[in-house]
Amino acid sequence: MANTILIGAQWGDEGKGKIIDVLTERVDWVVRAQGGNNAGHTVVVGGERIVLHLVPSGILHAGKRCVIGNGVVLDPMALVAEIAEVTRRGHEVAGRLFISDRAHVVFPYHRMLDAQGEARRAKGEQIGTTQRGIGPTYSDKAARFGLRMCDLLDPDFPALLRARVEEKNRVLAAMGAPVADYAAVLADIQQAMTTLAPLVCDTIPLLHDAVQRGERILFEGAQGIMLDIDFGTYPFVTSSNASSGGAATGSGVPPTRMNNVIGVLKAYTTRVGEGPFPTELHDANGDEIRRVGNEFGATTGRPRRTGWFDAVVARHAVMTCGVTEWALTKLDVLDGFATIPICVAYELDGQRINHFPANIRAAARCRPVYEEMPGWHTPTRGITNFADLPDAAKRYVARIVQLTGVPVGILSLGPGRESTLLLGAQPA
Ligand code: GDP
Ligand code: IMO
Ligand code: MG
Repeated sequence: MANTILIGAQWGDEGKGKIIDVLTERVDWVVRAQGGNNAGHTVVVGGERIVLHLVPSGILHAGKRCVIGNGVVLDPMALVAEIAEVTRRGHEVAGRLFISDRAHVVFPYHRMLDAQGEARRAKGEQIGTTQRGIGPTYSDKAARFGLRMCDLLDPDFPALLRARVEEKNRVLAAMGAPVADYAAVLADIQQAMTTLAPLVCDTIPLLHDAVQRGERILFEGAQGIMLDIDFGTYPFVTSSNASSGGAATGSGVPPTRMNNVIGVLKAYTTRVGEGPFPTELHDANGDEIRRVGNEFGATTGRPRRTGWFDAVVARHAVMTCGVTEWALTKLDVLDGFATIPICVAYELDGQRINHFPANIRAAARCRPVYEEMPGWHTPTRGITNFADLPDAAKRYVARIVQLTGVPVGILSLGPGRESTLLLGAQPA
C-alpha cells in the first residue's frame, strides 16, 4: 500500500479510527502528525469499543509500530492514562510506541487558558473547543515560547517550566482566573516522564530508515479538512493542519515519499462545536441521524450537529488534500430514509456557487442546493459484497463518486472491522 495519508474529509468524526484499524494490517507503521487529545478515534473489535486520543489506532495490532510525530501536541498526563488503558486491554507499548522529541507539550496552564479563552469570547464567537489546551499550546509553539518533549528530558527543565508558569500565571491572574501551581505541575510531569521517557526519541531518522527499508507508513489524520487552520471555517477550526500537508510537516517524512491520500467521508455530515454548517438539519431527520448514527462526541460526549451529505465540502477536501480514494462510512445509518438529499452546490445571495467561501459570514448565508436521491428500505448492515447492496444505495454511492471525481475504495456499513467492503479503487 506504500505510504498513505488518511484524512478526515468533513468536520472530524468521519470514522477515521475504524478505517485506520482496518488498514493497519497492510502497513508497518501508523503515525499521528497533528492535533492532540482533542481527537477521539473509536475502534470496535469483537464488540469491544476503545477510543484512542493520542496513541495511534495501529497500537491495537500486535507487531505494528506507532509514532506520535513532531506535529502533535502532547499532554503527558493524558498520554500516561491512555497508555495504561491500552496496556490494561492487553496491547504492548514498549518497543512499539515512539514519541518525537520535537513534539510540543500541553501543560495544565494551556488547558486553563483554553477554558478562559472560551469564557471570555463574545457571544457568538465561542468556538466550542474540546478544552484540552490545544489552541494555547499551538499558540506557544508559533510564538516560540513552547516546550517540547526534548526539553522535558533536559536538566534545565525545572527552570524552563518555572519561567513559563510565572508568565502564564501573570496572564491568568490578570483575567481573574485560578493560576497554576508550579510545584504540582513539575511533580506531575516528572511522574509522567517515568513512563514516557523511554519512548521519546528522534523519530526523523526512525521513519527515514523505515522508508529506506521499503516499510509502509499510514498517517492517521485527526480532525477534518473543515477544521483545518488554513482551509477550514476559520476561526471555527482547530489549531493545526488537518489537511494532507500536515502529515509531512508533522512527521518529517517529506511530500516526495507520500503515495496515496485516503479521504474518510461520512455518508452524511456532522459537526461538533460552533461554526457554519450549510446542510445542518434542525428537524426530525437530523434527530434521527443523530440517534441511528449514535452521533455523540467520542472525546467530550457532546451531541453532534447533523445534516445531509455536502459535495461542496467533499470537493474542498479533494482540492486541498489530493484525495485519491474515499473511505465512505456510515452508509448503514441512512438505511431507513425514504429520500436522501445530497447538497451539490450552494446559493449565496442569489448566486449559485460551487466552492466553500472563505468568509464565515458568507458561509452562514449559504443555502444548500439539493438533489433528491431515492432511499432504500432494506438494512445494509451485514452485506459483504457491493453487488448485494440495494440498487438505491449503489446509486447514492455512484452519485458521490460522480460529484467528487474520486472513487470509493472502502465502504463501511457498521462500526466493527467485519462491516467493511474493500472495493479496490474503481475509476471515478
Ligand atoms: P473518528 O474521530 O473519525 O475516528 O470518528 P469517531 O470515532 O469520533 O466517530 C465515528 C463513530 O462512528 C464511532 O462511534 C464509530 O464506532 C462509528 N462508526 C464508524 N464507521 C461506522 C459505520 O460504517 N457505520 C456505523 N453505524 N458506525 C460507524
Ligand atoms: P477527531 O480526530 C470533531 C473541534 C471542536 C471545536 C474545534 C476546536 O476525533 O475527528 P480544539 O479543542 O481542537 O481547539 O477545538 O474543533 N474538534 C473536533 N471535532 N472531531 C475531532 O477530532 C475534533 N477535534 C477538535 O469541537 O469545534
Ligand atoms: Mg472523533
